[in-house]
Amino acid sequence: MSIRLKYVLVFLLTLALVGGAFTIGLNTLRKEVLRNEAEAVADQVIAFRAWVAGTGMVWVNKLAPDFPDWLAERKCAGTTFYGKNPALATRELSTIANKTAMRATYLVTSDEYRQPKNQPDAFEKEAIGIFKEDKARKFVDGYVGNTYRYARPIFVKKSCLKCHGQPEDAPREVIEKYGSEKAFGYKVGDVRGIVSVKLPTQSWQDLLMIFANPVAIGMIVFAFLVNFLFTQNVIIKRLGKLTSDVTAIAKGKLSTPLQYTDPKKSNDEIDHAYHAVDLLKKSMNILLKRLKK
Ligand code: HEC
Repeated sequence: MSIRLKYVLVFLLTLALVGGAFTIGLNTLRKEVLRNEAEAVADQVIAFRAWVAGTGMVWVNKLAPDFPDWLAERKCAGTTFYGKNPALATRELSTIANKTAMRATYLVTSDEYRQPKNQPDAFEKEAIGIFKEDKARKFVDGYVGNTYRYARPIFVKKSCLKCHGQPEDAPREVIEKYGSEKAFGYKVGDVRGIVSVKLPTQSWQDLLMIFANPVAIGMIVFAFLVNFLFTQNVIIKRLGKLTSDVTAIAKGKLSTPLQYTDPKKSNDEIDHAYHAVDLLKKSMNILLKRLKK
């Protein structure tokens, strides 16, 4: 194999390794960005739930056609008010938010879901299982197909026990609407469910397109060019010249001029090789003169 071929192989290997390392870094960055985005959405959901929970229930005097559900009903001065508890209000908000142009969609779900619309999928079930086993776990995330999935646990607090503790303690409306079987029997600290966020991910083609800009392509082409010119002019051409010079000397042309920089002024290995040949040439000249004598 010529040095040129060897060098091309080493160069390609280097390129592949650097490309690999870069891809790993890019993937980590991609996940970090997606995680930050999902965390912001989850924080928003939790803040909204907390706001509704702080009031106990949100009371409305009109039910929007898409959102006919309510948990409690009160009549006040001839007007009927419908109460929406935190979970219900959050579900209705998520229905609206998931229809908007927002990249993220989300759902509050549980393995023991009271509301059929809150049914968890495979990723969500697995995440709930992980949180139940490891209470210190802050989040679970990963890719499912082309989506990034993120889940954060929701724990049972004392205030939840009224509706998720013993059925006997539950408000009449909860039993009437959801029965006395589903989502009861929890204790403080139990994992009640999760906030689950979905985000679209960029495909590999999209990621590669990041490099499809003139500056990036220009830099890569320039790197190839610099490497090619370096090996060609600094190594290969000079080695070729050295070979022909030495061959000429070997054939008896002892006057062949050797052009190189003095090793005292140069660290270049080829200059050192030239210098060694020059010494050899001079020794041969002396030897020949002695022989002639
Ligand atoms: C006033 C009664 C009430 C209280 C208090 C209450 N919940 Fe609920 N919870 C419900 C009802 C009713 C649903 C079903 C809502 C729906 O139809 O979407 C529900 C649903 C949920 C869900 C969604 C999964 C499912 O079962 O469909 C989670 C998670 C949840 N509650 C957690 C909590 C937590 C945590 C607390 C305490 C911070 C709490 N809840 C307090 C009544 C209550």
